[in-house]
Amino acid sequence: MRPVVALVPAAGRGVRLGEPTPKAFVAVGGTPMVRLAVDGLIASGAVHRVVVVVPAELVETATTLLSTTSLTGGSMPPVPVHVVVGGAERTDSVRAGIAAAPDAAFYLVHDAARALTPPELIARVAAALQAGSQAVVPALPVVDTVKSVDDAGIVTGTPDRAHLRAIQTPQGFAADLLRRAYATDDGATDDAGLVERLGVAVRTVPGDPLAFKITTPLDLHLAEALLADGTRSPVAGHAQAVAR
Ligand code: CTP
Ligand code: MG
Repeated sequence: MRPVVALVPAAGRGVRLGEPTPKAFVAVGGTPMVRLAVDGLIASGAVHRVVVVVPAELVETATTLLSTTSLTGGSMPPVPVHVVVGGAERTDSVRAGIAAAPDAAFYLVHDAARALTPPELIARVAAALQAGSQAVVPALPVVDTVKSVDDAGIVTGTPDRAHLRAIQTPQGFAADLLRRAYATDDGATDDAGLVERLGVAVRTVPGDPLAFKITTPLDLHLAEALLADGTRSPVAGHAQAVAR
């Protein structure tokens, strides 16, 4: 199996969440989001190494927080977790992650803010890469009707919803492809967007509602409730990490 390195952008400020702490370090059910996200990656059994990208002032905090996460994922050896400093935009943070893992055969780029992502979803993305896909994204059908509007807010079109998908993370890529995509970064809102511009086909695999991105106070409320009522329990890796 060729090495899969997970890159976890966790350096955002979380302006829309409105907490004083950078978002990835805000606790959900008592555990910071970045820790939940890393535990999920390791529990998938599909990741060989994790690079977490954080704000400069939180390198030490993150290193301590993640120091007990070198756990076995499935039958794999312990998964090392490295912490590096991110940048002003998400793309800057992902670029820093890529630079810290030049040996990867595949990258899984996974938002720390998708803290409740089921390990099974992560494994699906990795399996599609190992089976030969160059670029893989988790996708869900869109429930709302989506319209395009002009600068004045006037509707300019209604794309057929049957062909629309909401895209989640982790997004998986052959390492060379993601490096090439980032060499020509011109401001896409997701990693796959950069790859699409290179003319490479991006495959979708089924996403999961639990992989929603915690963005607003309402999302945080939902995540807390899901952990509290047991709809989503912290993954096994976390319990082991605490016990050690
Ligand atoms: N991220 C990052 N570096 C940045 C910006 C974002 O690593 N400069 C990360 C965030 O920490 C998050 C993920 O990218 O895990 C998705 O970004 P988003 O949900 O937009 O988080 P924030 O940028 O922190 O939030 P906001 O846009 O509301 O400020
Ligand atoms: Mg942002």
